Amino acid sequence: MKKVFSLLAAAGLGLSLSMVTLADRNQEIADRIAPAGKSCLEGESCAAAPVAAVASGPRTGEQVYSTKCFTCHATGAAGAPKLGDVAAWAPRIAQGTDALYTNAIKGLNGMPAKGLCMDCSDDEIKAAVDHMVTASK
Ligand code: HEC
Repeated sequence: MKKVFSLLAAAGLGLSLSMVTLADRNQEIADRIAPAGKSCLEGESCAAAPVAAVASGPRTGEQVYSTKCFTCHATGAAGAPKLGDVAAWAPRIAQGTDALYTNAIKGLNGMPAKGLCMDCSDDEIKAAVDHMVTASK
């Protein structure tokens, strides 16, 4: 009889222990899936909003170059003037910045319009051109 009782006690203890760990895990999961920034209601001042605006702002010329333009301009693929190749860039730079911008945005022979960055704004393309020109003088 005593043996049965201690068995029951052990089982009960085990059960309550596992319930405690279950509760801990539930809290852990709740913490993990909680939104990183709380949503803000209209009229509330919301500290998270400016951060989001910065994250979706225009890309720098270097970012556009190193994600979109480098595929051709790092290797010289399709006859593209390579980044840093001063001799290849000199006659192009001599046309003037506006011509470079226009050719980059509209395309020129093997140079596709916007360098295939269809979601780039004109300003982002211009920034990428500036980045390439600066690195190739
Ligand atoms: C598919 C390959 C390819 C990609 C991608 C590409 N280019 Fe080009 N690019 C070329 C080629 C080829 C030329 C040379 C065109 C010519 O002069 O016939 C060129 C030339 C240029 C020129 C010189 C234009 C001139 O007037 O001489 C600029 C500026 C330029 N690219 C900017 C960019 C920018 C900015 C990007 C990224 C947004 C980009 N390119 C992505 C292939 C590419």
